Amino acid sequence: MKILLIGCGFVGERAADLFHKAGHEVIGITHSAESAARLSKDKPWVALACDISSAAAVSELREQVGEVQAFIHCASSSKGGADMYQSVYVNGMKHLLASFPEAWPLYTSSTSVYPQIDGCTVDETSPAEPTKETGRLLREAENLALQHQGAVARLAGIYGPGRSFLLKNLLEGSSGIEINEGAPDGRLINQIHADDAASALVHLVTQKLSGIYNVVDDAKITQRDCLLKLATVFNLPAPGIKPPDAARKRGWTHKHVSNHKLRGTGWSPQYPDYFAALSDDPCLASSILSLVGDTESQPLHRAENIILIGLMGSGKSTVGRIVAHKLGFQFVDTDHLITDQARCSIPDIFAREGEAGFRQRESAILRQLLGRRHTVIATGGGIITQPVNLPLLKHLGFITWLEASTELLARRTAASNDRPLLRGEEPPLVKLHRLIDERAPLYKALADLRIQTDELSQQESAYGVAESARMFFSKRQPSTA
Ligand code: S3P
Repeated sequence: MKILLIGCGFVGERAADLFHKAGHEVIGITHSAESAARLSKDKPWVALACDISSAAAVSELREQVGEVQAFIHCASSSKGGADMYQSVYVNGMKHLLASFPEAWPLYTSSTSVYPQIDGCTVDETSPAEPTKETGRLLREAENLALQHQGAVARLAGIYGPGRSFLLKNLLEGSSGIEINEGAPDGRLINQIHADDAASALVHLVTQKLSGIYNVVDDAKITQRDCLLKLATVFNLPAPGIKPPDAARKRGWTHKHVSNHKLRGTGWSPQYPDYFAALSDDPCLASSILSLVGDTESQPLHRAENIILIGLMGSGKSTVGRIVAHKLGFQFVDTDHLITDQARCSIPDIFAREGEAGFRQRESAILRQLLGRRHTVIATGGGIITQPVNLPLLKHLGFITWLEASTELLARRTAASNDRPLLRGEEPPLVKLHRLIDERAPLYKALADLRIQTDELSQQESAYGVAESARMFFSKRQPSTA
């Protein structure tokens, strides 16, 4: 199928990738020539610039690309007001329908068209008569698609890697539980992961499903419960109560949007709720943690755990167990958690899935450790090689780099056969030298403390780690240490 996809933003770009992967011909349209140039360079599909609010520009586009079987209008009005909605949504839709009369239209709208605020469940048959002018314009654009036997996808609040106001605000300490008389337990929120929003658009187009469809995940959850659960996952104090934010674009909302109709057509979300995405999306938690940063005035919240990093044989497991004992903490070893879950040894994982498969498992284990407290976490020597792991490690606790000379590392690792990286052609000492050259800058950048262990007993190293961690937490979070 030849598909015109107007708006290559957070969802549009993903949808274009999915269409291309499925073998369709996609032409992505963006507003600016710069983003068209960037996309053309990065993507295997064609990207062109066109301002759809101009009838002349759209008719020129038609000349350029010829007939298409379907078009998807998923351009964003960004922060625009009613004028922008009129020109991009309503006029844009009119121009596209006029210039591509043969195409099946899909308009991406928003669940904000449902004005209900009494906590009820709404489906596609529920009244959608928005009180705001912007909502009314969305409905007008929706109707244009429906009048042409097309489809309307009403998208809930979109989140994904690099974009989650809910989590970002919580991590920054600026979120609050919103309640009012009508919703004393908090207002219901409706969310969708960007990958699932994109897969829903692809589903609607490839199945040619005309009519209105809500695109939302399976969760029925209040903003309050979501924040409280997130606070547990990120070891943060529960946020306080906050009066509703009158300036919020969507105003006060309190309804549960059902995805029953779309699910009934065979679509299902990869991430049924936000928490599934936190554990299964490799980038979500990490990307939002890295957005928050770590400054003097606003330090990143560090969970009360101790993370040990360093090369193979540096004593992470042995020292870690002693530290845990000293502090009354639990002890876990990421390598053991991986082998327990995979039910096979590390050399077998490397043999079956390659180092890449092992690294994916290692990152997944780190995500599963979110929410831990009072735990010493010994990590595999290569955990710091994956950039996605770094914000997670930093958030998970106080990080100590155990250093040792390569000679000592070689001696300690010689006895066992369970380290595939030391089993290759290269002699272990040479390999260890190479690994330390590659990894030392990464260990150094991440560590809160580094201990040169060659001259120390393991008890002495453990003492250093435990006391430094105690000090770190008492300075940083005096109330919880
Ligand atoms: C690795 C170190 C190992 C294990 C895997 C890969 C590495 O853990 O995760 O063999 O890349 O350095 P230890 O550091 O606990 O030996």
